[in-house]
This record gives sequence, C-alpha cells and structure tokens, in this order.
Amino acid sequence: MSVMVSEKKIGREYVTADEDTIATQMVNEFEAQVTRMYKDKKMLRQVHTKMHGCVKASFAVEPNLPDDFKVGVFAGAPRKYNAWVRFSNGNTETQKDKKKDIRGIAIKLLGVPGEKILNDEHFLETQDFLLMSSETFFAKTIKELNTLLAAFTSASKIKFLLYLLNPLHLPTLMRVKKIACDNPLNIPYWSTQPYQFGTVDQAVKYHLRPSPDNKIVVENTTDYNYLRYNLAQTLYDNEAKFDFYVQFQTDAEAMPIEDPTVPWTSQYIKLATLTVYAQVFDSNAQIEFGDNLSFNPWHTLPAHRPLGSFNRVRKRVYEVMSKFRHDKNKLPVIEPKDSPDFLKDIVHPFHKNSIDQQVPSKKILQTAAEVIVNCSKEKAYLYISSNKELPNWLLKAGPVYGVINVKSLQADYKKVGDKRWIERGDGGKLEEELISVHRFSHYAYQITKFSDFFRKLTDKAFGQMWFDTVDDQTRISWVYTFTYKNVFAKLFLKLFLSLFLKKYLQNGLNNAKAYLED
Ligand code: HEM
Repeated sequence: MSVMVSEKKIGREYVTADEDTIATQMVNEFEAQVTRMYKDKKMLRQVHTKMHGCVKASFAVEPNLPDDFKVGVFAGAPRKYNAWVRFSNGNTETQKDKKKDIRGIAIKLLGVPGEKILNDEHFLETQDFLLMSSETFFAKTIKELNTLLAAFTSASKIKFLLYLLNPLHLPTLMRVKKIACDNPLNIPYWSTQPYQFGTVDQAVKYHLRPSPDNKIVVENTTDYNYLRYNLAQTLYDNEAKFDFYVQFQTDAEAMPIEDPTVPWTSQYIKLATLTVYAQVFDSNAQIEFGDNLSFNPWHTLPAHRPLGSFNRVRKRVYEVMSKFRHDKNKLPVIEPKDSPDFLKDIVHPFHKNSIDQQVPSKKILQTAAEVIVNCSKEKAYLYISSNKELPNWLLKAGPVYGVINVKSLQADYKKVGDKRWIERGDGGKLEEELISVHRFSHYAYQITKFSDFFRKLTDKAFGQMWFDTVDDQTRISWVYTFTYKNVFAKLFLKLFLSLFLKKYLQNGLNNAKAYLED
C-alpha cells in the first residue's frame, strides 16, 4: 500500500524561474507610470498614494510570552518600541475616501537592534510591518499580478480595456476586495503574505484587529478627505489600540506559502499591542514627513524574513521605487531614528468637550462655502481665525453687512471657551464662543447672543471652519448652522441662508484667498 506523503514543507519557499524578469518589468512599468503622473509635481508613491495620517504609536510586546514566541522583535524582556504608523488608501490616483478601496497600514518600529536583511541597511534600526484591509491577496501568482499591472499601469486605454474584456481575468478581478471605511482605526488588517518566524521551518502571517474598547469618532462621511478628518477627531481626545496577532502555518499544503489567495485557518495568537497615541498629527510638516518615508517589508530582522513569490518580487520593487521617487524629489532616502524626544509632543489628555458643546445635527438649517487657497494650512488657519484680520476679509455682500470691529471678551480667542464680540457695519452685534479647536485643521464656535432681529429666530447658531490639504493647496470650508425657534423662523432662515448668507460667506472666503495669496 502506498501512502501519499506531502512534498511541501512548513516554512519552505518554492521559487519560480521568471521572478527576476517580472520584478524588472514591474519596476519599468511603475517608473513609466509615475513619471507620466508627476511630471511637474512632487512624486508620490505608485500605490497607497493617499495618506490619511502618519502617526506616533507604541508597539508593546505582550508580557509573559512563552519562550517559543520570543523571536526577533519579540525576543528578550518584553519591550515597548516607539513606532511610526502610516494609514493609506491603496489606489494609485488619490480619490475621494467614499470610493471603495483597499486600505493600508504601514508600521515602522524604531530602535530595533540587530543586523537587518537589506544590503545597504544592515545597521539601521527599523523593522516594518505592512498590512492591508483584506485577509487574502487578489493574485494567485506573481505572473497573474504582472498581467494585471501591465494593463492597469499602461498609458494605453486599449490595453486596459482588453484586459477587462478577457474573461480569463475575471477570477483575479473578482478577488480584489475593496472596502468602504469610515475611520482607518476601525477596520482589521492582514499581511496576506507569509513571513519567517525565528527559524526557517516556521512561517506566520500577521493580523491587526482594532480593540473593541476604542472610542472611535466618525463625524463626517462625505468630505473628500473624511478619513483624515475622522482620524484627527478621534486622536484629538483618544488613543486607539490594535491587537497584533500571528497565525502559524500548520499545514504546508492547506496553508501555502506561494498562493496568497488561500486564507490560513490556524488560530490567531496575540503577540503585541499597537497603541496609536492621542495626538495632533495633521500639520503640513508631518504630512510631508509621512510622504517622504519608505516602508518596505524587507526592512526587517532575518527572524521575520518575508516569504513567498510576492514578497520576493517586492524586495526589488520597494527599494527601487522608493529611491526613484526620492531622486525625482531631490530628497535623500532616510530611515527615521528612535530618540528620547519621540513622545515630546504627545500631550495627554487633551480637554474633552461636553456633548452639548457639539454642533447639533437635527432641527437645523445649514449653508456652506468653500475656497482653495495656494498657501499652507497653518497660514490659512492663523489668518482666518485672527480677530485683527476678520474686518479685512468679511465684507458686506448683498444686504448682509461686513464686520467692522472685533473685541476679545475672554482670553485671545484661541482655546475652547474663549469669547469675542463682533460688530457689523449696520450696528448689529453678536457674541461668539469657541467650542472646538483643532489647531490648523478645524475650529467651531457658537453664537448665543444676537443684538438684532436674529435673536427672535434662533437660540443658537454655529460656525465651523475646516482646513484641509488638497494637492499641496489648502481648502477652507465654512459651514454655518442655525437652530430655529419655530416654523416662521425656519421659513425665514431658509430664504435668508440660500439668498444671502451663502453669498456672504463665499465672498468672505474669496477675499481671504486674495489676501492669503498676495
Ligand atoms: C507583489 C505585490 C506588491 C507590489 C508589486 C507592491 C507594490 C508597492 C509599491 C510600489 C509601493 C510604494 C512603495 C514606495 O514608493 O515607497 C507599495 C506600498 C505599499 N504596499 Fe505594496 N505591493 C505589493 C503587495 C503588497 C501587500 C501584499 C501588502 C499588504 C498586505 C502591501 C501593502 C502596501 C502598503 C501598506 C504600502 C504603503 C506603505 C506606506 O505607507 O508607505 N503591498 N506597494
């Protein structure tokens, strides 16, 4: 009687002949594509281009791990590493967050001792983990991926269409799992590809799962960049935790190394906790820092060596593509270092606003205006929020009089609770109080005192200012919200908002733009 014996071994790779050729083809296609896309602009990544935030975190190894798990970064006394974490959308072109997409998380541990794999980087102290929002990868083989990429990165629309029309490609396309997302802190991630775990006869996949105890803020699901906004709103007051798991390859046939479309079914074992600190991260400088980083699964200790054909091809692709974009941008490729100052700007806890200080979402009328300004977010924020500048840009439009005088009543109108009096050209006065301040990104105020007719119509009105980076420029959005006292007030305010107030806000922002770009 003959017994079927599995040929495949746990942790073993099975290299195919054409991987080098495919890696070269991919690099050529990617370079051609980003060269076309970023002719006169700063070059961004070929994929995972749109960053929601590059944030500070800690990666704390579980205490009391059994000795078998104490390999690589998990070895020795349980350590807590400082880490950078970059959240992204997978798509090549930046697009609105509402569009379904693959979402990415890239983690870079700092201060990791020990020799690393990459030739030029043996003595750098970073260890990267790259994960995405689906459990499995959409391509079965690297050849299959290359055929797809050749069509999707090509300048020729015909090549792209021919790919889509070929029914043989349907299984690959069906496996692409794009998801909707309301906050990048709110979804699980997987490595999809395997990694060595300590010795060559052990392999794992990685998985990150958000802690159910996180307080996640979802205030906006319509803005072009709402994921950054919700991330910022969450981290302003709260930290967010993810559990980091490994899943061992326990059957070399049923859990293959070389086919990432097959989910592994072994149990998840928690090895660490990733804690994203409460912080303010969305300054232009930090966005630029995140854009200039290079994440690469091969930034690693040999104990976590990437395995499988996709990872082998990624070795060439990530190194070359990072260098290519840094060269084009005339920037050096630099790995960040750990420092005792890493957490210096993480101040905690931030103040919390009580619920009644939030802008209501019911029984209200709203109008909004928006402008794109060619200056930094910081400059736009400081100008718009300044008491001194307000009379210079908020001018009469139609029957609505402009601001002629502003007086601080309490402090200097920078913190929650600060108040100011505003006087308009027709003598009308109103008192504004700051109810939410996320410096350089957003502030909101409430108006509880009107000297004129408006006090008969409303108990409270609200203004919200958003500052957002779009294609190197700053978008300023101004949303005005009125509560109404009765049906008559509702009717009147509805007409007032649509006929006059919208134009007044827009006119003001247009004036501000002229000043800011001068
Ligand atoms: C052969 C397959 C793959 C190819 C060719 C590929 C290609 C790339 C490229 C060219 C970049 C931009 C690198 C740079 O300019 O610095 C990138 C970034 C990224 N990739 Fe992949 N990738 C592959 C598979 C994967 C897999 C399996 C995952 C995760 C499960 C992943 C997650 C990411 C993430 C999260 C980023 C963004 C890193 C950052 O935030 O800087 N990729 N990939």
